[in-house]
Amino acid sequence: MKFSFVNPTQIHFGQGQIARIASAIPRDARVLLLYGGGSIKRNGVYEQAVASLEGFTWQEFAGVEPNPTVETLNRAVEQVKAEGLSYILAVGGGSVIDGAKYVAAAACYDGDGWDILLGKHRVAEALPIGAVLTLPATGSESNGGSVVTKAATQEKLNFVSPLVQPHFAVLDPDVMKTLPERQLANGLVDAWVHTCEQYLTMPTEAMVQEGYAEVLLRSLKTLGEQFAQRDSDAWRANLMLAANQALNGFIGSGVPQDWATHMIGHELTALYGVDHGRSLAIVQPSLLRHQIEYKRAKLEQMARNVFGLSDGDALAERCVDAIEAFYHSLGVATQLTEHDGDKAAAIDTIVARLESHGMVKLGERRAITPAESREILQQAVA
Ligand code: NZQ
Ligand code: ZN
Repeated sequence: MKFSFVNPTQIHFGQGQIARIASAIPRDARVLLLYGGGSIKRNGVYEQAVASLEGFTWQEFAGVEPNPTVETLNRAVEQVKAEGLSYILAVGGGSVIDGAKYVAAAACYDGDGWDILLGKHRVAEALPIGAVLTLPATGSESNGGSVVTKAATQEKLNFVSPLVQPHFAVLDPDVMKTLPERQLANGLVDAWVHTCEQYLTMPTEAMVQEGYAEVLLRSLKTLGEQFAQRDSDAWRANLMLAANQALNGFIGSGVPQDWATHMIGHELTALYGVDHGRSLAIVQPSLLRHQIEYKRAKLEQMARNVFGLSDGDALAERCVDAIEAFYHSLGVATQLTEHDGDKAAAIDTIVARLESHGMVKLGERRAITPAESREILQQAVA
């Protein structure tokens, strides 16, 4: 276990904290308020953000779509460059915050911004970012990751840079009041799988990281069981904090990480438009069953410490069944039905995409090659 860890994002957590924007952004900043399809105009978040920007020089860019596209974001980059803007305020879910990260980096680069996603340009400079989170799920509000889609080629790729990590993030659980049930369930599943990707690998003897991951998993499981109480302040606050902690970098520090479910899931979203959280629920149970011999010890630990299952035969198998049942209890499917045409053709397409994106050695042991991905997809595609 050896690591360096810092999470420099200042979190302003709790009701009424959107007003913090006024003191969190430097007074002389020229701000771009970046947001999505308009949900923030229907729930009062836009008005609160605008009120706290009083006295600032600011402009807005609306229309960042779920699974943000480089085509849309490049228009925001042009605006930033043309207007000499110096600070990006992202108000939205993971898509808007990821989009802000791309804009912040691409605005400081003279070439084609997509180079950043292709790894041809390493981010050397980026505008500062602040975030107001409206959908707890991705953890993007306090990490340096960003996932961007090129609509023209149906490619969904990610980049990571400490330079695009938000300087501050407002986490006001009240903003969740207008979230559709579907997005709440997606958020729960995403946070759950983030934790699993950093925990369900091999035994590590890292008691603190493993123990904290189990706390997060038990909390998320409880929130799922209490889904009927999703309109309570406590429920909302707990989900918002759990999703944040699941991907702020700490539980993955100094321990092996997997991320194969995410990489395969991104292809499902890019090709078939499946919501991010749902793509994970489709891939993960099948992947865990396929990799069960390598993950057996950790699945048994999760069975005991998260699900409270009793020892006995097939404990790891029962843990995967419990994970799948958890998704079903939230109304989230665990098989891909969105593809057109036959199953074999869909699998061929997904595997070809994985190969073309270099996703040929996935998982904590880098042992999931395209052949293994194909076998995993045999179970995951209906
Ligand atoms: O666009 P608006 O109108 O805001 O509507 C959004 C969108 O339609 C709506 N919404 C958000 N907050 C709302 C609300 N509706 C009502 N009330 C509110 N308070 O929800 C819809 C989905 O939003 P989106 O931002 O797309 O969802 P999410 O937060 O799940 O983000 C998904 C994106 O994040 C990426 C995913 O790949 C996907 O592109 N991820 C980013 C990660 C990171 N940066 O660390 C890690 C994740 O694994 C993930 O890959
Ligand atoms: Zn995710």
